Amino acid sequence: GVSVAGLRKETGAVTFDPGFMNTAPTTSAITFIDGEAGILRHRGYPIEQLAEHSSYLEVAFLLIYGELPTKGQLDQFVHSIEQRTLLDENLKRVFIALPRDAAPMAVLQAGVSALSTFYQDSLDPSDPEQVHISTLRLLAKMPTMAAYAHRVANGQPLMYPDNSLSLVQNFLRLMFAFPVEDFVADPVVVRALEQLFILHADHEQNCSATAVRLVGSAGADLFSSISAGVAALSGPAHGGANTRVMHMLDDLRKSGQDPRVFMEKVKSKDDSTRLMGFGHRVYKNYDPRAKFVKGIADTVLERLGIHDERLELAMKLEEIALRDEYFIERHLYPNIDFYTGIIYKAMGFPTHMFTVLFAIGRLPGWIAQWQEAINDPDTKIMRPRQIYTGEAERAYVPIEERT
Ligand code: ACO
Repeated sequence: GVSVAGLRKETGAVTFDPGFMNTAPTTSAITFIDGEAGILRHRGYPIEQLAEHSSYLEVAFLLIYGELPTKGQLDQFVHSIEQRTLLDENLKRVFIALPRDAAPMAVLQAGVSALSTFYQDSLDPSDPEQVHISTLRLLAKMPTMAAYAHRVANGQPLMYPDNSLSLVQNFLRLMFAFPVEDFVADPVVVRALEQLFILHADHEQNCSATAVRLVGSAGADLFSSISAGVAALSGPAHGGANTRVMHMLDDLRKSGQDPRVFMEKVKSKDDSTRLMGFGHRVYKNYDPRAKFVKGIADTVLERLGIHDERLELAMKLEEIALRDEYFIERHLYPNIDFYTGIIYKAMGFPTHMFTVLFAIGRLPGWIAQWQEAINDPDTKIMRPRQIYTGEAERAYVPIEERT
């Protein structure tokens, strides 16, 4: 086999870095994170200010094009997205063809992949106009496809989007209205969901963004690259954490166990139970997004008049953790997933849709990073090396001689 010394001769030093924990495969001007200080900024703007004042599509524009849009630019951007929410009729059949009990993330991934078969006029990464059109198409059609993933699971007809509505209103209508046309989303819910999307919009070189960049580095089109992002996000270690928080709170509620006893079990590490929604690879201080999410939870539950024991349980767990040496020493604070599930539930989303909501939120970040990569003259096909640990050369053994 090739020795480490041989690799060095060929490529210079090879770094063994499982999980890429110390490898920066790219420079980026999109998102800044200081995990020690609990800071997250997009294009220099603090996440708190964007979540407070901005809209989802305004943040998408900022991430992708680098500047906050003028009123005229934003109006045009929003209009060109909101008029593209419909899917080709044959693309709708892809959704109908899939099994009802399929995971909505798998359905969404199939839909996103299929975009490159239906919209072949916008596949060329070297043509800025085509990149622009595919960007608008993705932003417009992803919420429609996400809602269709839900409708398929419920055996409901795939109703048409209503393009007189905003993107988020339209999405909520596609999710929750039956074919009757009189569904009107609560404005407080619309704004809250928009804020949650903003809080998920980008998080620099996470697993799914890296997947998008990696596929894009081979010259693949935007739709195919984004479908790789959806695939990565479907993994429980990445996008699935909010679902697991919900299961944890449900189990705790059903068992009637004292939260203090549960926390002792977490700390003892006996059966490797973790406090889901706590801790983060990068944030070693309070996740700035989590602070905001808690406020949204209060607003939405109050508005909808929902009393959810799970919120009280979550607050109790947080209160215990914030005063407990185990969590303090290890810098374990709530992450963005700790309270989001409670809000999604209050809005009426089933648990299996939580990761799909994350995908809609994260889409602008994926697109921005893909575009940054294809416009970067330093971008190369991502092709890491390995440290080979297998057999040295050996001679083929005919099958009748094998034991
Ligand atoms: N509950 C209890 N103990 C924990 C937790 C937790 N949630 N998270 C970390 N620890 C402990 C570990 O047992 C370890 O203890 P030790 O030093 O005694 O061995 C120490 O804290 C450090 O933990 P690591 O796993 O090394 O930290 P890492 O940075 O690799 O992990 C992670 C980060 C994976 C997020 C972890 O905190 C975790 O599993 N959290 C729960 C799952 C979760 O909420 N994930 C969502 C992440 S955010 C997102 O994807 C949007």
